[in-house]
Amino acid sequence: MSDDDKRLAAEAAMAEVCDGMLVGLGTGSTVAFAIAALIRARRRIETVATSEDSAAKARRGGLTVRDFANVSRVDLTIDGADEIDPHLRAIKGAGGALLREKIVAAASDRMIVIADGSKRVAALGVAKLPVEVLPFARTFASMRLAALGATVERRGGPTDNGNIILDAHFGAIADPAALALAIAEVPGVLGHGLFLDEVDAAYIAEKGVVTRLERGRASG
Ligand code: 5RP
Repeated sequence: MSDDDKRLAAEAAMAEVCDGMLVGLGTGSTVAFAIAALIRARRRIETVATSEDSAAKARRGGLTVRDFANVSRVDLTIDGADEIDPHLRAIKGAGGALLREKIVAAASDRMIVIADGSKRVAALGVAKLPVEVLPFARTFASMRLAALGATVERRGGPTDNGNIILDAHFGAIADPAALALAIAEVPGVLGHGLFLDEVDAAYIAEKGVVTRLERGRASG
Protein backbone atom coordinates (compact mmCIF):
# COMPACT_ATOMS: atom_id res chain seq x y z
CA MET A 1 0.00 0.00 0.00
CA SER A 2 1.56 3.32 -1.02
CA ASP A 3 0.41 6.89 -0.52
CA ASP A 4 2.08 7.84 -3.80
CA ASP A 5 -0.03 5.27 -5.64
CA LYS A 6 -3.20 6.43 -3.87
CA ARG A 7 -2.42 10.00 -4.93
CA LEU A 8 -1.66 8.96 -8.53
CA ALA A 9 -4.94 7.03 -8.82
CA ALA A 10 -6.85 10.01 -7.40
CA GLU A 11 -5.18 12.46 -9.76
CA ALA A 12 -5.83 10.24 -12.79
CA ALA A 13 -9.54 10.26 -11.95
CA MET A 14 -9.60 14.06 -12.25
CA ALA A 15 -9.73 13.61 -16.05
CA GLU A 16 -13.39 12.57 -15.56
CA VAL A 17 -14.42 15.74 -13.72
CA CYS A 18 -15.98 18.58 -15.75
CA ASP A 19 -17.29 22.01 -14.80
CA GLY A 20 -20.96 21.97 -13.87
CA MET A 21 -20.91 18.46 -12.42
CA LEU A 22 -22.37 17.33 -9.12
CA VAL A 23 -19.61 15.07 -7.82
CA GLY A 24 -20.09 12.40 -5.14
CA LEU A 25 -17.20 12.20 -2.68
CA GLY A 26 -16.50 8.77 -1.24
CA THR A 27 -14.64 8.22 2.00
CA GLY A 28 -11.17 7.13 3.05
CA SER A 29 -7.49 7.92 2.65
CA THR A 30 -7.47 7.55 -1.16
CA VAL A 31 -10.53 9.77 -1.53
CA ALA A 32 -8.75 12.35 0.65
CA PHE A 33 -6.23 12.69 -2.21
CA ALA A 34 -9.11 13.12 -4.68
CA ILE A 35 -10.69 15.84 -2.52
CA ALA A 36 -7.33 17.62 -2.34
CA ALA A 37 -6.98 17.36 -6.14
CA LEU A 38 -10.50 18.72 -6.66
CA ILE A 39 -9.73 21.66 -4.39
CA ARG A 40 -6.51 22.40 -6.29
CA ALA A 41 -8.22 22.10 -9.69
CA ARG A 42 -10.68 24.92 -8.83
CA ARG A 43 -13.36 23.37 -11.01
CA ARG A 44 -16.86 24.88 -10.96
CA ILE A 45 -18.44 21.83 -9.37
CA GLU A 46 -20.72 21.06 -6.47
CA THR A 47 -20.33 17.95 -4.32
CA VAL A 48 -22.22 15.59 -2.05
CA ALA A 49 -20.33 13.61 0.55
CA THR A 50 -20.68 10.04 1.80
CA SER A 51 -19.39 10.85 5.28
CA GLU A 52 -19.08 13.72 7.72
CA ASP A 53 -15.29 13.34 7.40
CA SER A 54 -15.26 13.83 3.62
CA ALA A 55 -17.77 16.69 3.89
CA ALA A 56 -15.51 18.46 6.42
CA LYS A 57 -12.40 17.97 4.26
CA ALA A 58 -14.21 19.32 1.18
CA ARG A 59 -15.70 22.33 2.99
CA ARG A 60 -12.31 23.20 4.57
CA GLY A 61 -10.91 23.43 1.04
CA GLY A 62 -13.71 25.68 -0.16
CA LEU A 63 -15.79 23.12 -2.08
CA THR A 64 -19.57 23.42 -2.00
CA VAL A 65 -21.08 20.36 -0.30
CA ARG A 66 -24.80 19.90 -0.85
CA ASP A 67 -27.08 18.01 1.50
CA PHE A 68 -27.71 14.67 -0.22
CA ALA A 69 -31.16 14.57 1.37
CA ASN A 70 -32.16 17.14 -1.28
CA VAL A 71 -30.50 15.34 -4.20
CA SER A 72 -31.80 12.60 -6.50
CA ARG A 73 -29.02 12.35 -9.09
CA VAL A 74 -25.26 12.70 -9.07
CA ASP A 75 -23.11 12.99 -12.20
CA LEU A 76 -19.96 11.23 -11.05
CA THR A 77 -18.90 9.61 -7.79
CA ILE A 78 -15.27 8.98 -6.88
CA ASP A 79 -14.73 6.46 -4.11
CA GLY A 80 -12.17 4.05 -2.70
CA ALA A 81 -12.40 0.30 -2.11
CA ASP A 82 -11.00 -2.33 0.21
CA GLU A 83 -10.93 -5.00 -2.49
CA ILE A 84 -11.68 -4.99 -6.19
CA ASP A 85 -11.81 -8.07 -8.41
CA PRO A 86 -11.28 -8.38 -12.20
CA HIS A 87 -15.04 -7.92 -12.81
CA LEU A 88 -15.00 -4.60 -10.89
CA ARG A 89 -16.91 -6.10 -8.01
CA ALA A 90 -15.74 -4.53 -4.76
CA ILE A 91 -15.78 -4.78 -1.00
CA LYS A 92 -16.11 -1.37 0.62
CA GLY A 93 -16.74 -0.01 4.09
CA ALA A 94 -13.56 -0.38 6.10
CA GLY A 95 -14.00 3.34 6.74
CA GLY A 96 -17.55 2.71 7.98
CA ALA A 97 -19.33 4.77 5.31
CA LEU A 98 -20.71 1.90 3.22
CA LEU A 99 -24.40 2.73 3.58
CA ARG A 100 -24.13 6.32 2.39
CA GLU A 101 -21.57 5.20 -0.21
CA LYS A 102 -24.03 2.69 -1.62
CA ILE A 103 -26.87 5.21 -1.74
CA VAL A 104 -24.74 7.87 -3.45
CA ALA A 105 -23.36 5.25 -5.88
CA ALA A 106 -26.92 4.23 -6.78
CA ALA A 107 -27.79 7.86 -7.50
CA SER A 108 -24.73 8.35 -9.69
CA ASP A 109 -24.63 8.25 -13.47
CA ARG A 110 -21.09 6.95 -13.14
CA MET A 111 -19.09 5.62 -10.22
CA ILE A 112 -15.34 5.25 -10.32
CA VAL A 113 -13.09 3.59 -7.78
CA ILE A 114 -9.59 4.84 -7.07
CA ALA A 115 -7.14 2.54 -5.33
CA ASP A 116 -3.57 1.44 -4.98
CA GLY A 117 -2.58 -1.96 -6.30
CA SER A 118 -2.86 -3.68 -2.91
CA LYS A 119 -6.65 -3.61 -3.31
CA ARG A 120 -6.70 -5.86 -6.40
CA VAL A 121 -7.77 -9.43 -5.66
CA ALA A 122 -8.61 -12.48 -7.77
CA ALA A 123 -11.63 -13.27 -5.55
CA LEU A 124 -13.43 -11.12 -2.98
CA GLY A 125 -13.31 -12.08 0.67
CA VAL A 126 -9.77 -11.64 1.92
CA ALA A 127 -10.98 -8.41 3.50
CA LYS A 128 -13.67 -8.41 6.17
CA LEU A 129 -17.09 -7.54 4.82
CA PRO A 130 -18.61 -4.65 6.78
CA VAL A 131 -22.34 -4.87 7.48
CA GLU A 132 -24.25 -1.88 8.89
CA VAL A 133 -26.85 -2.99 11.39
CA LEU A 134 -29.53 -1.34 13.49
CA PRO A 135 -28.16 -1.39 17.08
CA PHE A 136 -31.41 -3.08 18.22
CA ALA A 137 -30.56 -6.07 15.97
CA ARG A 138 -26.84 -6.42 16.73
CA THR A 139 -26.87 -9.83 18.43
CA PHE A 140 -29.51 -11.33 16.15
CA ALA A 141 -27.79 -10.06 12.97
CA SER A 142 -24.41 -11.24 14.22
CA MET A 143 -25.83 -14.73 14.77
CA ARG A 144 -27.39 -14.75 11.27
CA LEU A 145 -24.08 -13.67 9.65
CA ALA A 146 -22.28 -16.43 11.55
CA ALA A 147 -24.87 -18.90 10.24
CA LEU A 148 -23.95 -17.77 6.71
CA GLY A 149 -20.36 -18.82 7.42
CA ALA A 150 -18.70 -15.67 8.75
CA THR A 151 -16.51 -14.98 11.72
CA VAL A 152 -18.09 -11.80 13.06
CA GLU A 153 -16.56 -8.93 15.01
CA ARG A 154 -18.46 -5.90 16.26
CA ARG A 155 -16.75 -2.62 15.50
CA GLY A 156 -16.63 0.06 18.20
CA GLY A 157 -18.38 3.38 17.77
CA PRO A 158 -21.49 4.33 15.84
CA THR A 159 -21.57 5.14 12.12
CA ASP A 160 -22.50 8.62 10.88
CA ASN A 161 -26.04 7.19 10.78
CA GLY A 162 -25.99 6.14 14.46
CA ASN A 163 -25.83 2.42 13.65
CA ILE A 164 -23.18 -0.23 14.28
CA ILE A 165 -20.87 -2.12 11.94
CA LEU A 166 -20.38 -5.87 12.11
CA ASP A 167 -17.23 -6.97 10.28
CA ALA A 168 -17.99 -10.37 8.76
CA HIS A 169 -15.03 -12.41 7.57
CA PHE A 170 -16.11 -15.05 5.08
CA GLY A 171 -12.80 -15.90 3.42
CA ALA A 172 -12.91 -16.28 -0.39
CA ILE A 173 -16.51 -15.62 -1.45
CA ALA A 174 -17.54 -18.18 -4.10
CA ASP A 175 -20.84 -16.54 -5.05
CA PRO A 176 -20.86 -12.83 -4.15
CA ALA A 177 -24.35 -12.24 -5.62
CA ALA A 178 -25.93 -15.02 -3.55
CA LEU A 179 -24.16 -13.81 -0.42
CA ALA A 180 -25.27 -10.21 -1.04
CA LEU A 181 -28.89 -11.37 -1.30
CA ALA A 182 -28.68 -13.55 1.81
CA ILE A 183 -27.19 -10.74 3.92
CA ALA A 184 -29.69 -8.16 2.65
CA GLU A 185 -32.53 -10.45 3.73
CA VAL A 186 -31.50 -10.43 7.40
CA PRO A 187 -33.90 -8.17 9.32
CA GLY A 188 -31.96 -5.34 10.96
CA VAL A 189 -29.26 -5.25 8.27
CA LEU A 190 -29.28 -1.80 6.68
CA GLY A 191 -26.51 -2.31 4.17
CA HIS A 192 -23.39 -4.32 3.38
CA GLY A 193 -20.09 -3.61 1.69
CA LEU A 194 -20.51 -5.83 -1.38
CA PHE A 195 -20.65 -3.45 -4.36
CA LEU A 196 -21.26 -5.86 -7.22
CA ASP A 197 -22.86 -3.68 -9.94
CA GLU A 198 -22.08 -0.14 -8.89
CA VAL A 199 -18.51 0.36 -10.11
CA ASP A 200 -18.26 1.56 -13.72
CA ALA A 201 -14.50 1.98 -13.82
CA ALA A 202 -11.45 1.75 -11.58
CA TYR A 203 -8.18 3.67 -11.59
CA ILE A 204 -5.60 1.46 -9.95
CA ALA A 205 -2.05 2.68 -9.37
CA GLU A 206 0.74 0.22 -8.81
CA LYS A 207 4.39 1.22 -8.48
CA GLY A 208 3.70 4.54 -10.13
CA VAL A 209 1.68 3.22 -13.08
CA VAL A 210 -2.06 3.89 -13.29
CA THR A 211 -4.32 1.37 -15.04
CA ARG A 212 -7.91 2.20 -15.91
CA LEU A 213 -10.31 -0.74 -15.92
CA GLU A 214 -13.72 -0.16 -17.49
CA ARG A 215 -16.76 -2.35 -16.73
CA GLY A 216 -17.46 -4.59 -19.68
CA ARG A 217 -13.85 -4.43 -20.71
CA ALA A 218 -12.45 -5.77 -17.43
CA SER A 219 -10.91 -9.19 -17.83
CA GLY A 220 -10.73 -12.34 -15.77
C1 5RP B 1 -15.04 3.66 3.41
C2 5RP B 1 -14.57 2.91 2.23
C3 5RP B 1 -13.24 3.30 1.69
O1 5RP B 1 -13.41 3.81 0.41
C4 5RP B 1 -12.36 2.09 1.67
O2 5RP B 1 -12.27 1.59 3.01
C5 5RP B 1 -10.96 2.42 1.17
O3 5RP B 1 -10.32 3.27 2.05
P1 5RP B 1 -8.82 3.71 1.85
O4 5RP B 1 -8.76 4.54 0.61
O5 5RP B 1 -8.50 4.50 3.10
O6 5RP B 1 -7.98 2.47 1.76
O7 5RP B 1 -15.22 2.05 1.69
O8 5RP B 1 -16.28 3.20 3.87
